[in-house]
Amino acid sequence: MTFKENLLEKIFSKISQINEPRILDMGSGRSKNILRFLSQNPKLHYVGIEPNKADANFARDLLKQYTNATIINQLGYNPIENFGQFDVCMSLSVLEHVKELKTFLTNSVKAVKSGGLIVHLYDLGHSLYATSLKERLQVSLSNNFVDLLPESKVARYVNLEQVSQMLLGQGAEVREVTYHQMRSHKDFLMFLKLTLTKKKFWPEKFLNGNLKFLNI
Ligand SMILES: C[S@@+](CC[C@H](N)C(=O)[O-])C[C@H]1O[C@@H](n2cnc3c(N)ncnc32)[C@H](O)[C@@H]1O
Repeated sequence: MTFKENLLEKIFSKISQINEPRILDMGSGRSKNILRFLSQNPKLHYVGIEPNKADANFARDLLKQYTNATIINQLGYNPIENFGQFDVCMSLSVLEHVKELKTFLTNSVKAVKSGGLIVHLYDLGHSLYATSLKERLQVSLSNNFVDLLPESKVARYVNLEQVSQMLLGQGAEVREVTYHQMRSHKDFLMFLKLTLTKKKFWPEKFLNGNLKFLNI
């Protein structure tokens, strides 16, 4: 199970006692990870907000048999139907691509009902371990001149303290902050290859661990 899948398991287990849980997924992409949970719980209401038209259409097609699933093709900057009624609002690997972070985070707080759960999982891989000159340029522009870039090109460093402050400022309570940064995908694949082919190079503690949770 990947880290993201594991996190989704935890999120869905938290709302398993709710009769008709409502979950908002901001920056839902193709919504592939959600399929399983919708099939397990026919009463689950799922709304995905996805600005990329092709991905939104892919997700609509993927989830078409679930009448409780809706995909909205827009940015996460405006209120939607049932705003303030969601049990969970999450964004997975999205914050680093968001141009107007404060508006996005504010919406995530406003979307949930009182006592609702807000989860933002974001990746620093692009900014900390850019693998090409193009990616470095993209990160540098995103970090320093974000207004120059279209939303779809943003990939920047997201400051944890800033995120916490923005959420606190909207009345959210920060309950848990965890850090699971992995080096770049390229390094990870190299690590995996070496691990599988030349085990003797790696200390036992690496080999025994679950790779998906390794901090390397
Ligand atoms: C790396 S993908 C992650 C997709 C999905 N959450 C997943 O885990 O597979 C990032 C997504 O964020 C979306 N996105 C970027 N900026 C956004 C914004 N301002 N509001 C909502 N979604 C946004 C992108 O269109 C893209 O689908």
